[in-house]
Amino acid sequence: MFFSLTSSLRFRLIGSFFLCAILPVLGVSFSKAFADEPAPLVKVLVTYHSLSGNTERMAEAVADGVKGVPGAEVLLKRVGKVTADDLFSADAVVVGSPVYWSNMSGEVKTFFDNWQFKFGVFPEFKMKNKIGAAFATGGQVSSGKEVTMLTILAAMLGNQMIVVSGGGAFGASATTEGDSPGIDNKELADAKALGRRVAEVAARFKTGSAK
Ligand SMILES: Cc1cc2nc3c(=O)[nH]c(=O)nc-3n(C[C@H](O)[C@H](O)[C@H](O)COP(=O)(O)O)c2cc1C
Repeated sequence: MFFSLTSSLRFRLIGSFFLCAILPVLGVSFSKAFADEPAPLVKVLVTYHSLSGNTERMAEAVADGVKGVPGAEVLLKRVGKVTADDLFSADAVVVGSPVYWSNMSGEVKTFFDNWQFKFGVFPEFKMKNKIGAAFATGGQVSSGKEVTMLTILAAMLGNQMIVVSGGGAFGASATTEGDSPGIDNKELADAKALGRRVAEVAARFKTGSAK
């Protein structure tokens, strides 16, 4: 039967057999090559203002989340201590603030203003394409945490950064007074999830930009 086939059909049958045999082998070696690719080193700056320690606890949990991602390293600093090198060497920046009068605290706003006054980000847009994210703590359930996170994200967007969420819709947040004093485990878990997501997105972005 095989011998009665035309030579072109025989050629195609042999070709298909060859492809069926070789493709799985190639697939395995390609996926092995990707699996063997080292995770890119990403630097994540987690920076915050905190007077009574609530936002600092959230910042530490964000930093823990970053550390859980292979290849990611974290720098945890108060906003007033951040240097130009800290800022520009970071692949991602996560900023946390207590809610003051339904918005970010003056210290965090001054930090963003200093991106220009001290660090001169404009006109080159030196923060362009870095990953950014926000977290906040506020005394009351509905008194400005989302506005605070959104204004942090707005400052980042104005700098042409790529903003991501995590934990909650706009970042991670915690209610710290009244019926919900301090920071609970769910809020800490949200902060950790935010740190993990920021590091993962930064790593993916860095891998992509290296190709
Ligand atoms: C000046 C000032 C204004 C505040 N305004 C608000 C507010 O508008 N909404 C709110 O939910 N909490 C407000 N708070 C409460 C703080 O946001 C809250 O206690 C926060 O967790 C403090 O963070 P920290 O412990 O990191 O300093 C205010 C606190 C201060 C000192």
